[in-house]
Amino acid sequence: MNQMNQVHVRVHPHVRGPKVERFVYSQFAEHLGRCIYPGIWVGDRKDIPNDGGIRLDVVEALKALEIPALRWPGGCFADNYHWMDGIGPREQRPKRHNLWWKQSESNAFGTHEFLRFCEMIGTEPYICVNVGSGTVEEARSWVEYCNCVEETHLTQLRAQNGAPTPWKVRFWGVGNELWGCGGRMRPDQYADLFCQFANFMRRTDPTIELIACGSSSRNMEYWNEIFFERLFSYRLHHWGPLFEYLAIHHYLGRTLSDLNFTDDDYYGLIGELDQLRKHVEKAAALCRAYSTPDAPIRLIIDEWGTWYVEAVTENGLYQQNTMMDAIVAALGFHLYHDYAEDIFMTNMAQTINVLQALILTKGPKVCKTPTYHVFDLFKGHKDGQRLPVDVSSPPLPRVEGRAAVSVSATRAPGEKGQITISLVNAHLEMPASVAIEFGQPVTRVDGRILSSDAVRDHNTPDEPERVVPRDCKVTPNVDGTVTIDLPPHSVAALTVSL
Ligand code: AHR
Repeated sequence: MNQMNQVHVRVHPHVRGPKVERFVYSQFAEHLGRCIYPGIWVGDRKDIPNDGGIRLDVVEALKALEIPALRWPGGCFADNYHWMDGIGPREQRPKRHNLWWKQSESNAFGTHEFLRFCEMIGTEPYICVNVGSGTVEEARSWVEYCNCVEETHLTQLRAQNGAPTPWKVRFWGVGNELWGCGGRMRPDQYADLFCQFANFMRRTDPTIELIACGSSSRNMEYWNEIFFERLFSYRLHHWGPLFEYLAIHHYLGRTLSDLNFTDDDYYGLIGELDQLRKHVEKAAALCRAYSTPDAPIRLIIDEWGTWYVEAVTENGLYQQNTMMDAIVAALGFHLYHDYAEDIFMTNMAQTINVLQALILTKGPKVCKTPTYHVFDLFKGHKDGQRLPVDVSSPPLPRVEGRAAVSVSATRAPGEKGQITISLVNAHLEMPASVAIEFGQPVTRVDGRILSSDAVRDHNTPDEPERVVPRDCKVTPNVDGTVTIDLPPHSVAALTVSL
């Protein structure tokens, strides 16, 4: 008989914690590699079904996920992007060189196309403006073009270009990685520029929510601290709060291979999540320290996910996506649930064909990655209130201080709100039998599980259904507990009604 880890979980269904913002399950799409072209935009290609240039297979797959927000146009690309290149008749738009990702930019996919795509998939747009090589006026006028009602030259231009009604874009990022591709700036230098950009953007539309560029894993020790110190040393806050969010970036697995990883590599990658936790903890503590009741600052992780050695500029940061990625995504979300008070949004990099993608394309074919399926399984957590869970699990081998099985629970608002429980068995060999207790009988429980024989299993556009979730058996016991069996390296989600 196979050995099995025995895990016991106690969920406290009536102790409602902070809300897990739905925006935690957001995405990021950049003009990089094959993300936008042809991941989203296929123009007048006849071999790929599209609506006015936007491919419909991708729309269908993303719509089903109900992605709350999509960050665009970069990334490094944002600080070299001039938005006016991407409006007006497409045949007249200038061709440019994509400086960071060394490819040609047709500008066929610009503001109108992006915002139409967002409408098609039902997501909130999040636009990142150009600080590194742009001007304050350029950023300000983009806000005016997108959001303002008053008749001005720019809003008339928008109407001429087919959008008489403003889109009212809510989220605006003030530059990207200003410490790196965004301009190799010092944090105090960025703080000064940030004030200028934020001031004019906000004055143009006071309802927008602004996002400041925070640290990466490489400069987390000082960037945010100096930025905040400098910004708040002005003492000009009678002008009102300048921004709502600080955004950090954190990639994992930079020395590992997407498919040719060893078991040690796998456990090492899971161990790296502790660094992400430290990064989040540090940045969240600063946000808390500088928040006031009428001007809270919350945390965004607007680029995160795996980045393996295969993903290089020459291949447009393309990499494969296995059950290992699914486990990392799921554990990442559990971490973010732990910081539900602090974290407002996270945007995994990147939606299609780049880094830890949700979708891979090959000509007219597409596949959903294991990471896509985690986003799908975890849908029930969005806007749920976190519930305390006590987990007693054997440890995960080779990763100090981590349990083999991780569990997170949320409850939808309302007295009878449904409970979503996600479970990750990160152990490579041992299945787990998990008994979950609620302190009262359950009325109904449904479960879905994502697992595969090998942790390296993955989907391709030619073989799209190798790793797919399936309904799983969850046994309600007479004593009010439910039991679920988790194979090695698997992710499951239960919906429970009491
Ligand atoms: O996501 C790929 C790149 O990683 C982004 O363009 C940049 O912001 C980060 O360094």
